[in-house]
Amino acid sequence: MNISLADTTFTHLRDYIYERSGIYISDTKKYLIETRVARILQENKFNNFEDYFQFIKYGSNGKDISRLLDAVTTNETYFFREMEQFNVLTFGIVPKLLEQKKDLKNLKIWSAACSTGEEPYTISMMLMEKLKRPEYFEIYASDISERALSSAKEAVYSSYSVRNTPDPYLIKYFSTSEQSYALDFSVKKNVRFMNVNLMDENKTRAFRGMDIIFCRNVLIYFDNKAKQKAVANLYNSLNPGGYLFVGTSESLHNVTRAFRPNIMNKVVAYQKL
Ligand SMILES: C[S@@+](CC[C@H](N)C(=O)[O-])C[C@H]1O[C@@H](n2cnc3c(N)ncnc32)[C@H](O)[C@@H]1O
Repeated sequence: MNISLADTTFTHLRDYIYERSGIYISDTKKYLIETRVARILQENKFNNFEDYFQFIKYGSNGKDISRLLDAVTTNETYFFREMEQFNVLTFGIVPKLLEQKKDLKNLKIWSAACSTGEEPYTISMMLMEKLKRPEYFEIYASDISERALSSAKEAVYSSYSVRNTPDPYLIKYFSTSEQSYALDFSVKKNVRFMNVNLMDENKTRAFRGMDIIFCRNVLIYFDNKAKQKAVANLYNSLNPGGYLFVGTSESLHNVTRAFRPNIMNKVVAYQKL
């Protein structure tokens, strides 16, 4: 089936997606909606994008909107992605924060756009190795994509996802069968997943008192206004002195001045003042 997407309908859909998620789809990415949303049209027997847009705007339920957001999000991720940041976390920031906490040793870490779970699970494995005390940390993980979250909870991965995983971790924490890698329960049990839209102040407000937040490789899909809103929500969730990591190719320059960029081993960790 080849349904074409008129420019005006594209603009309507693009604006709707932006209002819902902060994701801004530029004119040059029109093909992205055309191909990915066409699949939803097929599944639901819509004849054209105009009917689908009217439905999504006026007649849809949470599930339909979730299906649309699933289609337009990019969920690329893998274990031990941007490894230097995990090293700074595990060997620099975590020992320092635990030391500061003295008696009450429970660090709260939030992976705020966790996709299919590789990021929070990497943190879980590394902290298990470093601290040997799972009760010292709690990991929360969230995403807007329901499809990504259900795959995260299942925690069975392809060889592509584990391609960067050091062998000792692969051997210790995964069981392999026919090209798939199932993550061990000991790693899974430290991570709690939930559906949270970073634009949603009410939802993000549920995360309070975080010591460390990872929000990597998601702000790149937002425009500056949406970035500012998401980062303000994250700021409110962090403890004073807490740290925010964004992707290594991203920066909070031009987004906010509320954090102090700390450079450790060439890694930038944004500290809440
Ligand atoms: C490219 S993945 C990044 C995954 C991981 N953080 C990493 O760096 O490997 C981007 C994720 O952001 C999620 N996302 C996009 N917009 C979001 C929003 N408004 N709220 C929460 N998550 C969102 C997508 O569903 C996707 O899973």
